[in-house]
Formats: sequence, structure tokens, C-alpha cells
Amino acid sequence: MSEEALADTAHRLIADHKGVLAMDESNGTCNRRFGDLGIPQTEEMRRRYRELIITTPGLGTCISGAILYDETIRQRAVDGQLFTKVLGEAEILTGIKVDIGATDLARHPGETVTGGLDGLRGRLRDYAQMGASFAKWRAVFSMGDELPSQGCIDANAQALARYAALSQEAGLVPVVEPEILMAGEHAAVICRQATDRVLREVFDQLHGQRVVLEGMLLKPGMVLAGMDCPTQLTAEEVADETIDCLLQVVPAAVPGIMFLSGGQSGELASARLNAMNIHRKREATRLPWALSFSYGRALQRPAMDIWRGEAAYVDAAQHALLHRAHCNRAARRGDYRAAMEAV
Ligand code: G3H
Repeated sequence: MSEEALADTAHRLIADHKGVLAMDESNGTCNRRFGDLGIPQTEEMRRRYRELIITTPGLGTCISGAILYDETIRQRAVDGQLFTKVLGEAEILTGIKVDIGATDLARHPGETVTGGLDGLRGRLRDYAQMGASFAKWRAVFSMGDELPSQGCIDANAQALARYAALSQEAGLVPVVEPEILMAGEHAAVICRQATDRVLREVFDQLHGQRVVLEGMLLKPGMVLAGMDCPTQLTAEEVADETIDCLLQVVPAAVPGIMFLSGGQSGELASARLNAMNIHRKREATRLPWALSFSYGRALQRPAMDIWRGEAAYVDAAQHALLHRAHCNRAARRGDYRAAMEAV
């Protein structure tokens, strides 16, 4: 696929103030969330839950792309249609998680490296044939004394860049996700330093692997204090710190930044994205990239809590999902208000 076609797909994912829905939890993660709610941990229940999500009426008005898991991209709705077809009819692009998860990094206690490069070229070709337009790979960085280490940053940045290059070779837009975990007591300034170090190395490696920046998207976390830090930033402070940090390290050729939610509540994730887009309006000439979302939990959690595996709650769960999607589309315009949550 040409560089222009990759850039076109990246632009479709950020167009019209829409964002991406991450529904690519591995079976283990999905089962864990089901277990907490007493939902049977079976392939059929995962299928029903994912069907609930993608058949939400009006989802395509706010969501431009949905990231699926390997099991999910092969599944069908109850009427026999492949999920990829259902998404296509809603004008939602299909994405696919292509890493196979994080494992312990040798000689780096408490740190991981994400795997999945072996055989990736063939898997990407298969996913493209199944209708995928973009691909996601998540690297994880723990915070702590001396963490993240340079060895962990180097290993994960190189894997991210090699996956991104292979994705582009297969015609899929890479969504490059280096996630700094929120767990810990660290202050926001420490998160900002770690984000800066990680992103510098990631972009060095992306350059080294000749990744076309116009045909990729970045999925970072926001600059936040650790979850157990007594001093938390306001939404406006999160926006200022995050944008100032990204301006130092993310090249202007990257079309969009699609934040992950990382365990933030739905409301906070919307309020902070909104503050960033208000900041964007103030500094319109300075910000080169779209500031958007690729949320998993912050979009899905209320819907899963309502559904609990019961057919009778499908409509209410879809309503809750659409509400969060609407709030985040409003946040992309800087128009989200806390009062929207009262409806
Ligand atoms: O890899 C993580 C997901 O794509 C984003 O999920 O928004 O719940 O952090 P999250």
C-alpha cells in the first residue's frame, strides 16, 4: 500500500472529531473483568459482549475505528455476519491488536517486554485479508525507583518500531502504544520525565526503521501523578503538562495522538481530553496533531457493569456505551461539560 493510502487511513481515524474504541482485551483480561461481575467466562459470552458493543445503534457517529482481539476478528453476530462486516456497515474501521502480550524482561526485575514479532509478517497479511485497516501494539512501562530502566525502554521501543514498519508494509496503520502505568506514588513530574524518555527513544527507533510518520498514530498515556500520589493534577494541569511534554518529542508529521485511558474513570478521561482540546483552541497554531482517544475501559466499563451477561440489559448497556462515546466526541471539540453526565 502506498504512503498516501496509509496517511488516508490515519486521517479517517481522526476525522470529524471521532475516536477509537479499544475492545481488544485478551481472553485472560476479558475473563478477569467478567469474573468480577459474575459473568460466565466463555467464548460465547465474550462473543455476545462484543456483539453488544459493535451493534450499538449510532456508534459510528462518534467512533471511527474499533480495535479487536484475534478471537474477536473471527467472530460473527447472531445473524451470521462477520463482526468486520457489521463494523464496516457502521462506517467503523477494523483494527487488530497484534502483540501477544508482555513477559518479564530478563535481568530487569519488575519490567516487561512485549512479544509478537515472530511470524508477524504473515499474521498481518492474514488480518489485512480479514479486513483490518490498522494494527495496535502495546508496550508497558512500570514506574518506581530507577524505573523504567534504559534497557526496558530500548527493548520495547525497538519492538514497537519493528512492528510499526511491518504493519505499514502490510498496508495497516500502526497505532504505537507505549503505556506508562499509573500504578505508584510518583508525582506527575516523574511521569512527565518518563514519558519524555520513552517517547524520545520510540521516535528514534521509528526513524531508524523508516516508519512513515504520516501513516501512523501514537497512543500514549496522559501525564498524570501515580494513582497513590496524594497530589493529583487538575484536568487543566494534566492538559498543560501533557501537551508541553508531547510538543518536545512528537514530530509534527504524526497526524494524531489517541490517548489510552489506563484505568481513569470515564468522566475523568473525558474531562482531561476536553481540557487538552480547549488548550488546542487557545494555541491553535502551535499544535500539529489531533488530540483524540483510543479508550478501552473509559468507554466500556459502564456498559459492562450494566450488562452483566443478561440479554434484558443489552439496550441499557448500549445506551451507556453511546453516552461515553458522545462525551468523548464532545471532548475532542472542547465542548464536554460535567453536566452531560447528569442525563
Ligand atoms: O491496550 C490498552 C487498550 O487499548 C486501551 O485500554 O483505555 O483501558 O487503557 P484502556
